[in-house]
Amino acid sequence: MDDRMVDQSLHDDESNFELSLRPTKLRQYIGQSTIKSNLEVFIKAAKMRQEPLDHVLLFGPPGLGKTTLSNIIANEMEVNMRTITGPSIERPGDLAAILSGLQPGDVLFIDEIHRLSSVVEEVLYSAMEDFFLDIVIGKGEEARSIRIDLPPFTLIGATTRSGSLSAPLRDRFGVHLRLEYYKEQDLKEIILRTAEVLGTQIDDESASELAKRSRGTPRVANRLLKRVRDFQQVEDDDYIKIRTTKRSLELLQIDDEGLDYIDHKMMNCILKQYNGGPVGLDTIAVSIGEERVTIEDVYEPFLIQKGFLERTPRGRKATAYAFEHFNMHGERE
Ligand SMILES: Nc1ncnc2c1ncn2[C@@H]1O[C@H](COP(=O)(O)OP(=O)(O)OP(=O)(O)O)[C@@H](O)[C@H]1O
Ligand SMILES: [Mg+2]
Repeated sequence: MDDRMVDQSLHDDESNFELSLRPTKLRQYIGQSTIKSNLEVFIKAAKMRQEPLDHVLLFGPPGLGKTTLSNIIANEMEVNMRTITGPSIERPGDLAAILSGLQPGDVLFIDEIHRLSSVVEEVLYSAMEDFFLDIVIGKGEEARSIRIDLPPFTLIGATTRSGSLSAPLRDRFGVHLRLEYYKEQDLKEIILRTAEVLGTQIDDESASELAKRSRGTPRVANRLLKRVRDFQQVEDDDYIKIRTTKRSLELLQIDDEGLDYIDHKMMNCILKQYNGGPVGLDTIAVSIGEERVTIEDVYEPFLIQKGFLERTPRGRKATAYAFEHFNMHGERE
């Protein structure tokens, strides 16, 4: 799969760009108001008790701000944060080394926590509940278990797939936060903030236009702004004007709803080749030359969320709204 402009996942060359845009305080974190007000209370209370914050589990699709929020929590708690990813810890010993290196109150952020191996996950239970680890060393008759006491810490786990997390692990998090897709108004605010950080000016209409086409995702909003800024620079305008914004979005092939050529390819296949469906996922995959899992994990969720597509027992089906959006009035059987 090539790098799509509207891809919610991080592109290889974007880490530094994103790092420079990350808000560091809860106040600067835009949108997600329920999450923010809850966290504000939890953080304040933990600080008053001089205890580490409860373990926090963050759910949500890519690019909605899980890593950002985790950094903010550590920052607001005034502690250090250590980041690891689920699949990177292979043995319980690796986890022991990381946990015993923490200072009291520190945050351990485990990204993609649904991908922890089950042996590592099991030793994590006692660490989360009572701040100790039972590690078995040696093999066979020589094997013995040693207990390692740990400093109290906060575990923040992030996952894009809440369904893939085992119940025992999920239950050990005191705080569960589910990030929602952002409202247009919030995305607009994010775009205006990013423009300020980048030292670029943008008119109000352009910011709204970009927000509308950002698929509810701050990462996409920031990426679109960055591209449009390129067009503005080439045109030698002193700020981003609506004319440039619209033209660049057109050149980038992103429509009013934030759909790109791949979404169009998929919807056209269902609407035109299969009369709106229902049509099986495998058939779509063959027709558009993409892998089944990519369609299921990457392309389809947004189309479903936007109400263009439905999952039915007999396959994928285009909605009436899809027929309307893709100008297929009267072509339906
Ligand atoms: N609420 C927000 N306010 C302002 N900017 C945000 C917000 N949420 C996310 N961003 C911006 O979007 C970018 C992507 O966010 P982040 O990396 O935290 O997403 P993520 O959920 O961790 O994604 P992934 O699942 O791919 O790890 C960040 O660089 C940040 O600048
Ligand atoms: Mg992340």
